[in-house]
Amino acid sequence: MISAAHHNEVACGDQSAMIGRSPAMRAVMATIERIAQSPASAVITGESGTGKELVARTIHQLSARRDAPYVAVNCAAIPESLMESELFGHERGAFTGADRRQEGCFEMANGGTLLLDEITEMKAGLQAKLLRVLEEHRLRRVGGSVELSLDVRVLATTNRNVEQTVREGRLRPDLYYRLNIFTVHLPPLRERVEDLPMLIEAFLRQFSRTGAKEITGIDEACLDLLRAHPWPGNVRQLRNVIERACIVCQGGLIRKQDLPEEFRNCGPQGNGYFMVRLGTSLTEVERELISRTIDYAGGNKTRAAQILGVSTRTIYNKLDQYAQPDSQDGTHAHSRETLN
Ligand SMILES: Nc1ncnc2c1ncn2[C@@H]1O[C@H](COP(=O)(O)OP(=O)(O)O)[C@@H](O)[C@H]1O
Ligand SMILES: [Mg+2]
Repeated sequence: MISAAHHNEVACGDQSAMIGRSPAMRAVMATIERIAQSPASAVITGESGTGKELVARTIHQLSARRDAPYVAVNCAAIPESLMESELFGHERGAFTGADRRQEGCFEMANGGTLLLDEITEMKAGLQAKLLRVLEEHRLRRVGGSVELSLDVRVLATTNRNVEQTVREGRLRPDLYYRLNIFTVHLPPLRERVEDLPMLIEAFLRQFSRTGAKEITGIDEACLDLLRAHPWPGNVRQLRNVIERACIVCQGGLIRKQDLPEEFRNCGPQGNGYFMVRLGTSLTEVERELISRTIDYAGGNKTRAAQILGVSTRTIYNKLDQYAQPDSQDGTHAHSRETLN
């Protein structure tokens, strides 16, 4: 049964449900329900692990096509030379090794939904062919002469900034406009920490069922550590952390010691904090905070910039500035700033 009555959970029969009651996720779910009413294409964006594939599956499940096939193809995982045949199929003898006719993903998804996962990784030549198929609703298998007509709803995902990939020439603008009838953007997990308890609860239920252990919850201190984490791998990473915790957990409650090393070191004595001595200059504090945040974000400067609420450009400018020999101590850097 498919029910979308509550916006904090869109359940799709026995498929895993989309969880989240933060305002951002409620908005996403409302958009998904609207998209499901129409056969038009949609582009789903968001960092890795934010739930893009889950959104695509949910759209299919909520649509009138729910009983027809759902096919997903990862455009980044398949070598360029095989991709055309993967999408459009081939006839026997179309190329060396093609010893029989093979249906492509489009044909397999006929009547249903096709997900083109990581569309921005598709090579330009193939993007042109794809656009033609989308516009004409028909295709010819590789090495074939017959045109097959198609009725496929196409969804696409990317973890890149789509507009930027269009500007860079990675994604053809005409293909982008053809696909981007609707857009769903999934915010990173660190921007919706309100969703953590619900997600954790769902993953606990899932893993204590598979692991034959009854784990009922997570203690408050442990939840605080998870709330403070930047989650570069988003919901996928959270799911893995909870799975691991369920395996190592001794009692019925997940505790701090069940978390991986990088979480356990948090706290006033650990890596999650640093001390500032009164009498320190702002410049010095800034420098230390930037450097520690970069470490905290696993060396990812873009992520560090997001955590600090500044642009990546600013981080690089600061690092350049710190690398200048005359800015070894804070007072020099400061006086230079005032001179500008
Ligand atoms: N809102 C959510 N509710 C429940 N599970 C989620 C949610 N978002 C992501 N997940 C789970 O996290 C994992 C990663 O999701 P996925 O859709 O593969 O992310 P992406 O395609 O953006 O990398 C999957 O196991 C998925 O089921
Ligand atoms: Mg994915």
